[in-house]
Amino acid sequence: MDISSKRLITRSVREAAQALLAGQLVAIPTETVYGLAADATNPKAVASVFALKGRPADHPLIVHCSSAAQAWQCVQVVTPAARRLADAFWPGPLTLVLPRSAAISPAITGGQASVAIRVPDHPLTCQLLAEIERPLVAPSANLFGRVSPTNAAHVQDEFPDTPLLILDGGPCDVGIESTIVDCRSDASVRILRPGKITQQHLIEELGAGCLEAAAGTPVRVSGALPAHYAPQAQVILLAASELGSWCESHARAALPTLLITTAPPPREIPAGINWYSVSTDTSQFAREMYALFRRADRESCQRIVVELPSVEGIGLALRDRLQRAAK
Ligand code: TXA
Ligand code: MG
Repeated sequence: MDISSKRLITRSVREAAQALLAGQLVAIPTETVYGLAADATNPKAVASVFALKGRPADHPLIVHCSSAAQAWQCVQVVTPAARRLADAFWPGPLTLVLPRSAAISPAITGGQASVAIRVPDHPLTCQLLAEIERPLVAPSANLFGRVSPTNAAHVQDEFPDTPLLILDGGPCDVGIESTIVDCRSDASVRILRPGKITQQHLIEELGAGCLEAAAGTPVRVSGALPAHYAPQAQVILLAASELGSWCESHARAALPTLLITTAPPPREIPAGINWYSVSTDTSQFAREMYALFRRADRESCQRIVVELPSVEGIGLALRDRLQRAAK
């Protein structure tokens, strides 16, 4: 099928399934962010994901499955911790790292002996995975190192010159990428990338004893590179208490800026600064954050000044993404 002559945004799961089975890439909605999907069993299709994203070959891809049963075929052993977490949180925004089975090519895992797997929770993608009866690799559908897309238009903006079929599932509910948990060892389960599923959620399932601090990861996680999730504008993070003096000292510097805070800044907003009010509810902020980054770039803002979100719930993961974007 030549998709260059067709409508590129579709709501048809059948059309997306046919394209994937023909070895093409399709952008798919998930509850976290949009993914750039390819048939995980087709080496050429997997290679074209790396090529289109500009992603180095040693940065592994997440394998998306229709069920835990399908996910377990991708791994050599299912540790009790992995089973508990899958029972509790799949389908959902949790990715598990386990030793890969022979069913998963090392090209997917960046040559590593482990594979990252997840069962996503979006109605269209669940239907799609059930229909094609094979796993899909899907990194976030953005150029390497840039901001993840949270709606179909973002994906189109990211790849304007590529005839890429996009399965439009509306805006993503979570808005930032899944939590990644290394559960190869029951004795030391480790969060490699924070997300909506928090350390507290994991402790409730596994007990505190087996959770290790996130530092010193022996596996490569591209989202863990210091500079990642970055808009073109410079990102500056400020505590709420610093906003007043920031506005005062920047009153005369006319750099176009997007200011994102939960309450009106205590001082008059200087000229050239667009103020956007976000919810104190961190889940709501997460839904909007990447769209705000994109808006700042579209409006040629040179700076995005963001009030540090609270650490409640998904807030810790928001801080993680903001801090990486600020590097
Ligand atoms: O929410 C998400 O996880 C989204 C949606 C589309 O599912 N996907 C996503 O994929 O964020 P990507 O490729 O942008 O980020 C995948 C992360 C990277 O940080 C990668 O290094 C890590 O998963 N990863 C993949 N395989 C791994 C492995 N075997 N061991 C450790 N980390 C791995
Ligand atoms: Mg990504």
